[in-house]
Amino acid sequence: VTAIFLAGLGIGSVTQVTREVEAALRASKEVLFLDTGVATRTYLEQLCPRVTDLYAETYRAGKSRLSGYEHAAIRVVEAALDHPPVAFALHGHPLIAATPPFLVREMARALGLGVKILPGVSAIDTVLADLGVDPVVDGIQMFEASDVLLRRRPLQADVPALLWQIGPIETALHSEHVARPERFDRFIAHLRRYYPQGHEIAAVYSAPHPLLPAQVLRFPLERMGSHAAELHHGFTLYVPPAFRRPVLDHEAAIRLYSAAHLRAITAV
Ligand SMILES: C[S@@+](CC[C@H](N)C(=O)[O-])C[C@H]1O[C@@H](n2cnc3c(N)ncnc32)[C@H](O)[C@@H]1O
Repeated sequence: VTAIFLAGLGIGSVTQVTREVEAALRASKEVLFLDTGVATRTYLEQLCPRVTDLYAETYRAGKSRLSGYEHAAIRVVEAALDHPPVAFALHGHPLIAATPPFLVREMARALGLGVKILPGVSAIDTVLADLGVDPVVDGIQMFEASDVLLRRRPLQADVPALLWQIGPIETALHSEHVARPERFDRFIAHLRRYYPQGHEIAAVYSAPHPLLPAQVLRFPLERMGSHAAELHHGFTLYVPPAFRRPVLDHEAAIRLYSAAHLRAITAV
């Protein structure tokens, strides 16, 4: 039996909530949520008598985001022990760039509580739609922006890149202050090891409401600092490929269109 639903609310307001998420919210005795969408609370209150906003409890200025996440996870598990089932509803997809659901899963496993994961529309979906990029044509690489610096992650310049959490780069503490231009210097220097001078990149903020447009800021990599004040926590950075990888195995390319080869690799 499910004691905890980990449910995604989508990106573009409640219009992106799936029917299965809505059914779970209705079935829950309490919905605890982390989402700053304009209509989220009003919407949740129509489905469930007890709705708890965890945002203010989770994100405190100057405090580690991780300690806030632990607090949120404990609140969800306590509610599930007291009056199951409960739903933990989060912005986007519940398991994408989100720590608290993983903490909930770990605690629930130790306590023998059943967990059901209900996916939501993620920023991956909306950002790719805003850019009109098919992630399968040249592949896709995705990293968390600070993690790129920590591990000096190599980037593959022929593969489109999505870099998450570009706004809060270089800190694990919560802050609502805008960035100074220099905040991005180390990140730019790292990317310059893989991408040519003047490479045009885009910062994307998908619409948080169906009536608003997506925000797409395009600029040469080196000029990122001049957009520091605009790059809030909701932006994802997109780095397009700098070149197209050439086909190396020409025989494999010819085999793709050979009927004889198809017969050889399939059973009749
Ligand atoms: C804590 S993560 C949450 C991601 C969310 N669970 C999801 O599935 O998209 C926050 C990061 O997601 C990305 N993000 C969230 N909302 C976005 C939006 N409206 N447009 C673009 N990126 C967004 C940004 O990279 C942001 O820093």
